[in-house]
Amino acid sequence: MSLRDKTVVVVGGSSGFGKAAALKAAELGARLILTGRDPVKLGQVVATMDTDGYQVAGHVLDAANVSTISAFFDKIDRFDHLISMAGGFMGGGFLDADYETIRRAVDEKLFANLQIARHAVKRIADGGSMTFTSGSGGRPHSASGAIIGNEAISSMVQGLAVELAPKARVNAVAPTWTETPLWRDMPATNVQATRAHFAGTIPLGRTAEIEEVAQAYLFLMQCGFITGQTITVDGGLTLVS
Ligand SMILES: NC(=O)c1ccc[n+]([C@@H]2O[C@H](COP(=O)([O-])OP(=O)(O)OC[C@H]3O[C@@H](n4cnc5c(N)ncnc54)[C@H](OP(=O)(O)O)[C@@H]3O)[C@@H](O)[C@H]2O)c1
Repeated sequence: MSLRDKTVVVVGGSSGFGKAAALKAAELGARLILTGRDPVKLGQVVATMDTDGYQVAGHVLDAANVSTISAFFDKIDRFDHLISMAGGFMGGGFLDADYETIRRAVDEKLFANLQIARHAVKRIADGGSMTFTSGSGGRPHSASGAIIGNEAISSMVQGLAVELAPKARVNAVAPTWTETPLWRDMPATNVQATRAHFAGTIPLGRTAEIEEVAQAYLFLMQCGFITGQTITVDGGLTLVS
């Protein structure tokens, strides 16, 4: 399952896990189609990869807007693998978080990725794969909508895996808290405190490097006999908390 000359779509390839996974795929000879919401940031990432000699194209896409999802898949040709980073984060339980905040977290995680999957099936090549992003380590009483969204992604990939077999495989990666640009609006002291909290709880004694999480997407793209699975990348956190 070499990635050489395969086309890899990365929804959310302009930052964090998606950007790191895209770089690893490019190093293995894949052609990249990257999306991001912020056109400036996306343009900078595409320009840098292009200068470095990788085959890369960029498209602005906000998966919260269904019409941009269908327009994106109408524009691109057949692809081999897709990985999606669509989704964000939220804090708060089912009673103390704002109703709209909970609803938006589920929309951005489950329904955005479901729309991506439903449009992507028209373009995916035989033997291809889709890998979505769940999450791990949070708890329903303090991250209500995010947990619902993450659990829904795991159920979604189980259903899609059977519905799409044997044409293509569908899986998910579930990272736990990792220092990425997702936390860009959080004060640096809070980021450091959160990092220290997780490092003190995770059995491996530290938080993940972005590249370690990216490696899980590369594995799922390249292992042709895994489908319907969610790989947790958490240093053992869910075993002890
Ligand atoms: N970092 C963590 O601690 C952590 C833990 C568990 C799960 N996750 C999940 O991992 C995924 C990636 O997070 P990250 O930490 O790599 O964040 P990041 O550095 O902010 O990167 C997210 C990428 O996805 C794009 N994106 C975000 N929402 C999108 C949407 N609605 N439609 C299309 N593209 C969208 C972003 O584009 P713009 O930058 O242009 O907005 C960016 O390219 C998310 O689904 C997040 O929930 C992260």
